[in-house]
Amino acid sequence: MSEIRFTIDGKACLAERGQTIVEAAKANGVYIPVLCNYEALKPVGSCRICTVRVAGRYMASCTQPVTEGMAVENTAPDLEDMRKSLIEMLFVEGNHFCPSCEKSGNCELQALGYRYKMMVPRFPYLWPGRALLAGSPLLMLERNRCVQCLRCVRGITSKAGRKVFAAVERGPHVTIEIDPKLAAKLSEEEARRAMDICPVGAILRKEKGFALPIGQRKFDHTPIGSDIEKGTGR
Ligand code: SF4
Ligand code: FES
Repeated sequence: MSEIRFTIDGKACLAERGQTIVEAAKANGVYIPVLCNYEALKPVGSCRICTVRVAGRYMASCTQPVTEGMAVENTAPDLEDMRKSLIEMLFVEGNHFCPSCEKSGNCELQALGYRYKMMVPRFPYLWPGRALLAGSPLLMLERNRCVQCLRCVRGITSKAGRKVFAAVERGPHVTIEIDPKLAAKLSEEEARRAMDICPVGAILRKEKGFALPIGQRKFDHTPIGSDIEKGTGR
């Protein structure tokens, strides 16, 4: 299969046919931030953190396939500032109290906040009061921290293939629900996967908080995106 030649910020890159810009960038050692995108799940392009520019057009690089000769702009100052503003919007739209959150150090939103040197968001806090769901034996759903990435909806299914999580409503009113019957049957491994697939601290395994101490977590020693060249991704 012939490879596709393209560039990212002027760097010559090669892509396989059908690869998205995010996939090809990663294969070429270039970091593009993502949040709703998750390997092995069909991308939906909902968060727009991965926005790049091609010939003056803005596009979600997690859904856009690479084409021959494409010249991708990834780190232009205005693009980076737009990503930072999206991260700030997510922070003010939910209640993210990082110092007391179980996911601190393992949270992709927090890690992006550090990467983009977020200090005080430029938008007013909304302080939502969404109900916490704690009916499942193994899981807790803290919707005040949800960033509506739909990774749980796309990635967590029962053995029969039914979705454990569902999104109700649309747009800014989207809310994540959990199927109580399916959630009651989750194994320990499935519950752990649900917690891991959530980029923030919205899905938590009950009674297992802080099993891995703060200071020994994913982003405590290695900032997000810095390991791209080792092929480990985020
Ligand atoms: S609960 Fe977590 S994985 Fe599910 S939509 Fe919200 S942030 Fe994403
Ligand atoms: S990571 Fe591409 S739109 Fe969310």
